[in-house]
Amino acid sequence: MTALRFIYDCDPGADDALAMLVALGRPDALDMIALTCVAGNVGLQPVVDNARRILELAGRQDIVVHAGAARPIMASRGRISIMHGSDGLAGSTLPPPTMPLADGHAAQAISRIARMEGRLHVCATGPLTNLALALLLDPELPDFIEAITLMGGAAFCPGNTTPLAEFNFAVDPHAAAIVFDSGIPITMLGLDVTRQAVVTEEMIREAEAIGTPVAREFAHLLIHYGSKDPCLHDPAAIAWMLAPDMFSTVQGHVSICTDSGPAAGQVVAAVSERHLAGREPNCTIVTGVDAEAFRRLCLDALR
Ligand code: RIB
Ligand code: CA
Repeated sequence: MTALRFIYDCDPGADDALAMLVALGRPDALDMIALTCVAGNVGLQPVVDNARRILELAGRQDIVVHAGAARPIMASRGRISIMHGSDGLAGSTLPPPTMPLADGHAAQAISRIARMEGRLHVCATGPLTNLALALLLDPELPDFIEAITLMGGAAFCPGNTTPLAEFNFAVDPHAAAIVFDSGIPITMLGLDVTRQAVVTEEMIREAEAIGTPVAREFAHLLIHYGSKDPCLHDPAAIAWMLAPDMFSTVQGHVSICTDSGPAAGQVVAAVSERHLAGREPNCTIVTGVDAEAFRRLCLDALR
């Protein structure tokens, strides 16, 4: 089986960093051909710094990094998440990055690389601003994107940023709406499933016991991020790409509320015939995971 070539759009952020390390630990199955950055957990500059700090830790300075949107499409500026520490990597001791940023905005890079690849997979674990901008820049882009795997939303459970919205969709509801309206096949790993993907003491101990610099950083992130939010949100998106059989799903039609009120960023998930009302599903909604198998997959990738 050849490795799945994909672009990783993210806002590291501690759990994005964990997701990066899991993906980079499985070059047999995943080929991260580019990484695009979006403001979210922290501002754009620390996000692009953190992405490169993690790539350098993993010895993958060959992966091009493009900076993207510094703010959401419509909101004056995005929310910053206090969960990830002031530097966005839970106080990591990793040195500042030395590898260069690639030229060109992330949105342009997504369009250019997708057209070059012909059929590209995109994994997104931050606000969807870059992907939405790419779709606005290049209306034919859906013809070149095979599928999107994203962490975001809350289909059947409360939000984590407002009562109705999950962080990534709350930061940029308009971008999420553009992506879900694109017609591209989407797998959405929302809080419905990521709240089941939790860190355990045993997982931390096993990561520490591996003893490599990557595993030590992984354990650091698990401890310091996990003390604020024990859910491995973004690694779940990578795990779906590696082992979808450990998850349970439903098909549905997802739309995103873009009102400016309390429902901004809310997922409206229609699953029943009555709710679908003749619309075709546009999303595989992930609803469950074998949490132990998920933790095992993350640790095996570290090894
Ligand atoms: O709600 C969790 C999501 O928001 C994760 O992707 C986290 O990194 C933040 O971006
Ligand atoms: Ca994220």
